[in-house]
Amino acid sequence: MSRPRLLAVASLALAAAVWTAGPGRQGALAEDGPPAAAPRPAGDDVWEYQARVICDWPKLPAFEVDGKAVGGEWAVVAVLGAGEDPAEALAFAARGASAEKQAKAYWVAPDAETQARAVAAQVAGMSGAVAPQVGAALGYTSPAGIRVDIALRPAVLVVSPDGAVVQAHFPGSAWNPDHVAWALRSMLRLEAQARGEFRLPSAIVPKPRPDFQGALACAACHRSEFKDWLMTPHSAALEDLVVIRRDTDDGCIGCHVVGWQQEGGYSDRRAHRPLADVQCESCHQPSRTHAGAGRTTQAQYLATCAPCHTTNFSLFSDFGAAMRFVAHPQRAAAEFVKFDDRTRLIGKLKDQMYREACGKSEYVGSAACTPCHQEVHPQWAGTDHARAFRSLPPAGRTDPECLACHTTGHGHKGGFQSEEATPGRDHVGCESCHGPGKKHVEAQSVAERKATVFSFDEKCPTCVVQRICLSCHEPRKRPCRDDARDTPFELVPMMEKVRHRTK
Ligand code: HEC
Ligand code: HEC
Ligand code: HEC
Ligand code: HEC
Ligand code: HEC
Ligand code: HEC
Ligand code: HEC
Ligand code: HEC
Repeated sequence: MSRPRLLAVASLALAAAVWTAGPGRQGALAEDGPPAAAPRPAGDDVWEYQARVICDWPKLPAFEVDGKAVGGEWAVVAVLGAGEDPAEALAFAARGASAEKQAKAYWVAPDAETQARAVAAQVAGMSGAVAPQVGAALGYTSPAGIRVDIALRPAVLVVSPDGAVVQAHFPGSAWNPDHVAWALRSMLRLEAQARGEFRLPSAIVPKPRPDFQGALACAACHRSEFKDWLMTPHSAALEDLVVIRRDTDDGCIGCHVVGWQQEGGYSDRRAHRPLADVQCESCHQPSRTHAGAGRTTQAQYLATCAPCHTTNFSLFSDFGAAMRFVAHPQRAAAEFVKFDDRTRLIGKLKDQMYREACGKSEYVGSAACTPCHQEVHPQWAGTDHARAFRSLPPAGRTDPECLACHTTGHGHKGGFQSEEATPGRDHVGCESCHGPGKKHVEAQSVAERKATVFSFDEKCPTCVVQRICLSCHEPRKRPCRDDARDTPFELVPMMEKVRHRTK
């Protein structure tokens, strides 16, 4: 597998595991290492680095050249590659910096020969090399103690006066000097604002466009919305396909990226990593955004959800209610959010979503389902789910930790308390998968019945059903097994063992 080219993560095995385990990697991730499924493409590491830089500023420690922090003024630094023609990176940095006169453009050369070539190139607007003139080792040590070395060259970095990397550019990934100019301008605005200055540098408002740019471009000016988005499942949508090796499946990609089969949209991961995942422009259509008077209305936003959140591929259909989970719920707190919080916050949001859906009813127990679903009951009774409580050792039968997965609805309204108090709610019952059933049982019409139960019949099993199963089967969540020996949950064969289709 191609280990990160960009980020050589040294020592600290534990810290390295935190770094590589992205939000979509639950379930399919082998316990102590890289994902069991597809290798992680280098483009993902570049993207992750770029996103981390934007997210963690200004809390990132100072950028170092050969162990020495650089800084003092706003700078655009061209990090040159050994033996490569420096002209393109130098021109990029000079152009990016030229937009704001407070900013200087420098370069860092890896060796004397490249240094000589950079001097000879005589690119206008470059202020020379950062001292020390030749720097081989670039990087920083993150607050979590992870040493991050910037090994991929060339790169163009925007560095703040206190030495923090604010934005990073690599060929093939948002390599656009306009982004540098935008970032500088919006940073200078923030600084002026913090000083309480009356005359702020004017904001640049881009023009509506026919094509897609990706979230990194938006982040130059909308940092808090970017951070907020990073903490939602949308930002990991393609990663979730990579884990199960479906990221090149035409039947899957469309809803997991931005601008699929549209002008300037995503077509493949190598060329378009910045456009992978469900991004800003999935909801903020480029032609409508920044159009001044023609602001996007709530109804227009709601209409953008429907093509992706279809009944087959989504557990919910009330987009208005779903909106508050994804339309910048954490914007106000964005300043305090760090990149390392991402996995946890995305997981929390998904759990919250699921719990909210379940919270709309109460558990009644599997016996209540039998009268109307007689054919299903015996099939379920023949599976291990129907003896999950009995499998527990005596101590486990009162341990809330065990009860969460070995009974039905423990800790929720009407859910398992004890065998006597809540009969039929021991074991992994019907409602463990189909959701609490009170409203469904009491429903007056077929339509109401359908709306009050999680129905998986027509649903994509790898998309929606997976979540239900993994809520208990994810190896790392289970205290009852020696996780080191655990194999990842394989949905298709496991599904065959518990299937109870009657139609
Ligand atoms: C029509 C749009 C669409 C298509 C096509 C699509 N998905 Fe999804 N997918 C979604 C949506 C929407 C969600 C979010 C689930 C929800 O809303 O409950 C999702 C979620 C997922 C998840 C995350 C599940 C979780 O529990 O976190 C996986 C994995 C996934 N899809 C895999 C696939 C695979 C594999 C395919 C191809 C067979 C596919 N998707 C095709 C729209 C789609
Ligand atoms: C799931 C859809 C969705 C995604 C993805 C999304 N947004 Fe939004 N965004 C919304 C909605 C809906 C609103 C309006 C409601 C609000 O202000 O909270 C909004 C509001 C905004 C606003 C403020 C508009 C105003 O009038 O105050 C900005 C700026 C913005 N988004 C930028 C972004 C950026 C940048 C990204 C990507 C990093 C992004 N959004 C991703 C749905 C989305
Ligand atoms: C160069 C800076 C800059 C960049 C880059 C930028 N914006 Fe904006 N954006 C602004 C400014 C300034 C405003 C406020 C203008 C206003 O109030 O109409 C704004 C307003 C918005 C709004 C609210 C008003 C509207 O038109 O809906 C949304 C949504 C938005 N931007 C989304 C995005 C998205 C998505 C991207 C990336 C594709 C992006 N922006 C890139 C500067 C930028
Ligand atoms: C381009 C397709 C697309 C669009 C447009 C889109 N989504 Fe999504 N959405 C997804 C996918 C795919 C996921 C699953 C991401 C994952 O977990 O891998 C998802 C996940 C979610 C989730 C988390 C669901 C959960 O249970 O984990 C919510 C909430 C959500 N979307 C709401 C919305 C809303 C509201 C809109 C409209 C404003 C919207 N989405 C627009 C594709 C889309
Ligand atoms: C009073 C009768 C009744 C009881 C009790 C009942 N159901 Fe149903 N259930 C129905 C009917 C009727 C339908 C709709 C069947 C159809 O699709 O035509 C249905 C549909 C379903 C579906 C969705 C199938 C589909 O076609 O969408 C699921 C899943 C389900 N029930 C599970 C349960 C569970 C779990 C319980 C126990 C908590 C339960 N039911 C109790 C009558 C009942
Ligand atoms: C509420 C938690 C929970 C949910 C949800 C759940 N399971 Fe299970 N599952 C268990 C427990 C606990 C056992 C072990 C029962 C025992 O042996 O006592 C189990 C056992 C199994 C087994 C038998 C063990 C084996 O390796 O053969 C299969 C197959 C299985 N589950 C598949 C699924 C599938 C597929 C889904 C999703 C459709 C699912 N489960 C959802 C908790 C759950
Ligand atoms: C996160 C969900 C989860 C929690 C929490 C959990 N289990 Fe389990 N347990 C499972 C699943 C899923 C299986 C079956 C899957 C498998 O065998 O791989 C299982 C299987 C078992 C088995 C083996 C059953 C058999 O006959 O093969 C025993 C015993 C067990 N669990 C005991 C416990 C005890 C004791 C606790 C509390 C300390 C506990 N479990 C907590 C999900 C969980
Ligand atoms: C481990 C999770 C799980 C449990 C437990 C479970 N189901 Fe299901 N159920 C599913 C899935 C997944 C489907 C979709 C069927 C498929 O894809 O084969 C389904 C389908 C159904 C259907 C519609 C399909 C049909 O052919 O009628 C009904 C009704 C149903 N289940 C009722 C029940 C009842 C009643 C129980 C308890 C006796 C139960 N389920 C227990 C996961 C579960």
